[in-house]
Amino acid sequence: KRCVAIVLSAGQGKRMGTSIQKQYIELCGKPIICYCLEAFEKSEIIDDVIMVAGAGQEDYVTEEIVNKYHFGKVRAVIPGGKERYDSVWNGLKAIRDGMAGEEAKEGYVYIHDGARPFVDEQIIKRGYACVKANRACVAGVPSKDTVKIVDENQFAVNTPVRKYVWIVQTPQVFETELITQAYKSLMEHDRENVTDDAMVVEQEMQIPVKLYEGSYCNIKITTPEDLDTAKGFIEHIKS
Ligand code: CTP
Ligand code: MG
Repeated sequence: KRCVAIVLSAGQGKRMGTSIQKQYIELCGKPIICYCLEAFEKSEIIDDVIMVAGAGQEDYVTEEIVNKYHFGKVRAVIPGGKERYDSVWNGLKAIRDGMAGEEAKEGYVYIHDGARPFVDEQIIKRGYACVKANRACVAGVPSKDTVKIVDENQFAVNTPVRKYVWIVQTPQVFETELITQAYKSLMEHDRENVTDDAMVVEQEMQIPVKLYEGSYCNIKITTPEDLDTAKGFIEHIKS
């Protein structure tokens, strides 16, 4: 089946605090967003890419990223929205409207944070095997740290058993028809605290979402210290 990657690049990067959005910061010679686009470009699994850029930044992304670095699988650069789920919904509608071709509508979709440079072919392949078997799955890793749920005053109220705590990453991979239905349903009512795509399937479709193995290197660049960690990973890969 056809596999489309929706690459999210419409966030503001408030926690990074730089004037330039974090996904366009240069890391060892190229913008952060290029790393995941390269992984999808080289992948045996991914056929098409839909890029979701900030509204008004479509031309910038087309010229400075897609054309400059020759990402031939990119079928469209479309505007995102206010929240991450708005951007995802725009990406799913682009597939529904045929921007990745007719076959893509009945295939699989990889929803990926443009701020995660270290997705690789192994992760992409594990996602493919998992989505074929389970319809809905997300990359993740077991939490190394104990997690505590706190109240408004930061007092611990609950400690989930660590072996059942996983840190969720992207790609989040779904049957395209399933996730589109889930988002359509989500967008018809009030939304609060929707931070990942798996939640949407869990809440709207009552379908179990399987976790598949991502990697401890598959970090999301979120705050300034993540840039140093990322540099370290790149040097490590090069050597
Ligand atoms: N994203 C998006 N559209 C939004 C919000 C986020 O496409 N309205 C994308 C970001 O560009 C990023 C990914 O979703 O690649 C994960 O989001 P996050 O790490 O929260 O990025 P930002 O929202 O940009 O950062 P912050 O929350 O610190 O402002
Ligand atoms: Mg955000």
